[in-house]
Amino acid sequence: ERQQRPIWIQNISQLVTLASEKKGPRIREEMKELGIIEGGSVWIEDGVIHDIGTTREMILKYLSRAEEADIVDATGKIVTPGLIDPHTHVVFGGSREHEFEMRLEGASYMDIMNAGGGIHATTRKIRALSEEHIFNQTSRRLDLFLQHGVTTLESKSGYGLDLDNELKQLRVMRKLHEKHPIDIVPTFLGAHAVPEEYRGNPEHYIKLVIEEMIPAVVEEDLAKFIDVFCEVDVFNPEQSERILVAGKNKGLIPKIHADEIAENQGAFVAAKVGAISADHLLKVSDEGIQALANSGVIACLLPTTALYLGEKPARARDLIDAGVPVAISTDCNPGSSPTISMPLVMNLACIMMKMTPAESLCAATYNAACALQIEDRVGSIEVGKQADLVLWDVHNHQKLHYIFGVNHVKKVWKKGVKVVG
Ligand code: NIG
Ligand code: FE
Repeated sequence: ERQQRPIWIQNISQLVTLASEKKGPRIREEMKELGIIEGGSVWIEDGVIHDIGTTREMILKYLSRAEEADIVDATGKIVTPGLIDPHTHVVFGGSREHEFEMRLEGASYMDIMNAGGGIHATTRKIRALSEEHIFNQTSRRLDLFLQHGVTTLESKSGYGLDLDNELKQLRVMRKLHEKHPIDIVPTFLGAHAVPEEYRGNPEHYIKLVIEEMIPAVVEEDLAKFIDVFCEVDVFNPEQSERILVAGKNKGLIPKIHADEIAENQGAFVAAKVGAISADHLLKVSDEGIQALANSGVIACLLPTTALYLGEKPARARDLIDAGVPVAISTDCNPGSSPTISMPLVMNLACIMMKMTPAESLCAATYNAACALQIEDRVGSIEVGKQADLVLWDVHNHQKLHYIFGVNHVKKVWKKGVKVVG
């Protein structure tokens, strides 16, 4: 490891630390505690956050070492933790703009999928393309995420839908995690759809997922989480539960695509299997919300997907009021949310779901880290944590959410190395 010069960021208009006494997912009022230091300063050394405080305090402590450091003047700007995107399908091939046009002309997302498009169209691409091609295409997409302030993201398989191609997708993630500055947390989503060759035969495919795919994924240590698309005409609640429990028994942590297009008991399945998060929830019932609250499941909400599908946004206010911790995410995928922008997701969390800027920022950093069980390392700016930081060209954190459709990112540091700006 080459010795890096320390980095000393000074005069930060707002150092938004997200630090709090509370450990684990934050609920209700806790989501508004941003731990802001006005006139803040950060000293980064060896890739970690070495010290934080006001610029005045930090000058007293570090003046004698000033020569060693690269000094960054952040006057008029804010610093936040690197954004964390806890739900993506970023490893895909091709694009589906013709389906976008079909939907504008009246076709529904599920009609297109049932006619062999949608997830099946992208699956044909993933099966046909080489690992190298998929790696390069995804790597460019990750560059865009980084330029928009994301330093860690979750990535799902689910466009292979057979043993070799699911493993291929997961191996691409592992390589990207090693080679790209962004940290990737992998999820096995073999149960994203019943592939076309098993049409009408879901039980045969489920058997393949449970008896062959899960063991192979675990054997190669290719995933941390297991996910399933629990949806009418995809996997029913009983099948979803069976698949998640099979993964859990092998050490994978359950997540679930729940109640996205139609209410399908997804929230109850999440509560029953002890999922770390239930995602989408556009159609969740009041009872479903209560089930999530009672079992401490994190709700991961995806407002760009609701916008893109022309659906009513998720009920963030009801979820937060019920005591469910909320995270937000892009859902980056070629069908229902072709975007790489967490800042846009944050704007829409406020505009469409009536979350406050503070709640939105918590949902995109600390609670997002909790949804990936990595909050011990990232998601807040605290001494000893990984130095994943974003410098934004706005005076206060509200402005980050208020002015939309603009990339406010000035600089990004990943593990203490400047990767943007
Ligand atoms: O989260 N709902 C299932 N999966 C994705 C869409 C995947 C695709 O259309 O390619 C979602 O919306
Ligand atoms: Fe998704």
